[in-house]
Amino acid sequence: MIDEHAVPVADPTLLPVSETVIGVAGKRVIVTGGAGGIGRAVTLGMADAGAKVVCADISAMPLQALVRESSGNGRWIRGLEFDLGDLDSLSRMIESAVQTLGGLDVLCNIAGVQLRKPARDVTASEWQRVMDVNLRGSFFACTQASRYLTSGGSIINFSSASSQVAIENISVYSAAKSGMTQLTRALAIEWAKDGIRVNAIGPGYIRTGMTADVMADPPRRDWLLQRIPAGRFGEPGDLVGATVFLASDAARYITGQILMVDGGWVAW
Ligand SMILES: NC(=O)c1ccc[n+]([C@@H]2O[C@H](COP(=O)([O-])OP(=O)(O)OC[C@H]3O[C@@H](n4cnc5c(N)ncnc54)[C@H](O)[C@@H]3O)[C@@H](O)[C@H]2O)c1
Repeated sequence: MIDEHAVPVADPTLLPVSETVIGVAGKRVIVTGGAGGIGRAVTLGMADAGAKVVCADISAMPLQALVRESSGNGRWIRGLEFDLGDLDSLSRMIESAVQTLGGLDVLCNIAGVQLRKPARDVTASEWQRVMDVNLRGSFFACTQASRYLTSGGSIINFSSASSQVAIENISVYSAAKSGMTQLTRALAIEWAKDGIRVNAIGPGYIRTGMTADVMADPPRRDWLLQRIPAGRFGEPGDLVGATVFLASDAARYITGQILMVDGGWVAW
């Protein structure tokens, strides 16, 4: 017999609805590379979803323009200049961001540089710069941020589809991004016991300043397009949903994963 007046017994296997909703309202977020194509979209997406965002970048003018034009009207965005290739500058940025935010819940490690060159033409200083920014800087951004993240914190690294498929003339970049992929897994297992999740996103070809030269080269562009099952290049906004999801409590049991956002490229 069904007793409609019976008090329901809480099912410990069910999450409260608030924790299953993909949301970042109230979270305190650092976005590095926030003045670039993808970083800007993520900054705005996070702020529109109610997060407090410190947007950090080496490029002063686009950073100032973003903060000036996009902050307010319900969005909380602050800007900080820094150089990910300089570890002192990185430390100062993280400390200042944490102070401004009043703590830290999420790091989106998006800043990065590309080097398009035949491997034999790459100089030692070019190799060093790509590694210093894309791999060494990103690693220390994770370790420094992890000191402030409490249980429930999330780090989202930006790797690349080119960490899984080889593409001509970007050997150094691919090596750095492959390092980022494995670094993500290594940090995820090390920090899981602290309740800190570490995941990565692997963008395919996204229309930003980084790929403008490829998009302006019709034979190269068409060759690439044929390899994308979705039949189009990505837009910066295509990365926002995946980033917000990985930052949210809905992803609370997901760590050490590399989520490809590439229109199907690496599944080919
Ligand atoms: N666009 C793509 O197709 C694509 C594909 C795969 C991976 N990614 C990765 O996504 C991330 C964002 O790329 P994007 O396409 O938006 O590029 P972008 O060039 O538009 O943005 C990169 C941002 O990083 C900043 N930056 C560069 N060096 C820095 C440094 N030393 N310190 C601080 N900031 C620095 C730049 O000023 C810029 O604002 C990068 O890590 C990139 O490698 C992009």
